[in-house]
Amino acid sequence: MNDEFFRMTGIVKRYHMGDEWQTVLRGIDLTVVEGDFLSVLGPSGSGKTTLMNIIGCLDTPSEGEYVLKGRVISKQDAKQLAAIRNKEIGFVFQSFQLLPRMDAIRNVELPLIYSGMGEKERWRNAEEMLVRVGLQDKLHHHPNQLSGGQQQRVAIARAMVTNPSILLADEPTGALDQTTGKQVMELFGEINSEGHTIIMITHDLSIAQHARRIVHILDGELMEGEETHA
Ligand SMILES: Nc1ncnc2c1ncn2[C@@H]1O[C@H](COP(=O)(O)OP(=O)(O)OP(=O)(O)O)[C@@H](O)[C@H]1O
Ligand SMILES: [Mg+2]
Repeated sequence: MNDEFFRMTGIVKRYHMGDEWQTVLRGIDLTVVEGDFLSVLGPSGSGKTTLMNIIGCLDTPSEGEYVLKGRVISKQDAKQLAAIRNKEIGFVFQSFQLLPRMDAIRNVELPLIYSGMGEKERWRNAEEMLVRVGLQDKLHHHPNQLSGGQQQRVAIARAMVTNPSILLADEPTGALDQTTGKQVMELFGEINSEGHTIIMITHDLSIAQHARRIVHILDGELMEGEETHA
């Protein structure tokens, strides 16, 4: 049996809009074990990003309990949450979110500056990660000199350079064509086989099938889906 990585119980998220409360997550129960590769599949507006932000400690639930690596997240203050995010979590987004004025290696190096590592070591680590994602000949290209798939590889290198235990990806292939999206999924498969837990949001079943396990989200409710053959 694998060890539990996180557990959510009865997670509810409500937003106040004008005079009304909107319930976006309606009692989510979800357990993820270490080394899992889970995809969350659901249509637009179903609550995927809201759920991801809670998993990533970027947002807190209105109700329910969230325990990440034995820590009760609702009991952590902002500083502790930031430390957990820096140490444990890597984020990848649909729109890459690279800094346009910095070349690939500087983008990847950035999270290591926050972690207090010296410059030489930062460069070595950043270069190693870019080689790892197949961009050894693009170290000094700026984002606008890279294709979409290459930009997403830089973003994945940036997410992984701190060696986080979990990679959270919100529609990582949403801006990519099918072939490039598949290549990014192959890279995710390799990262997962090296022991990193991955949670990926998508509305595309063919992308979701690259994960080991799929859960469906519909109107803020989660349904356990199928095991895949990945
Ligand atoms: N900060 C907020 N304030 C009010 N309502 C919000 C807020 N964030 C999200 N919502 C609402 O919560 C619902 C779910 O939003 P969410 O972004 O989680 O959907 P999603 O599944 O990620 O959709 P998409 O596939 O389009 O990205 C939407 O109806 C949205 O309007
Ligand atoms: Mg979303």
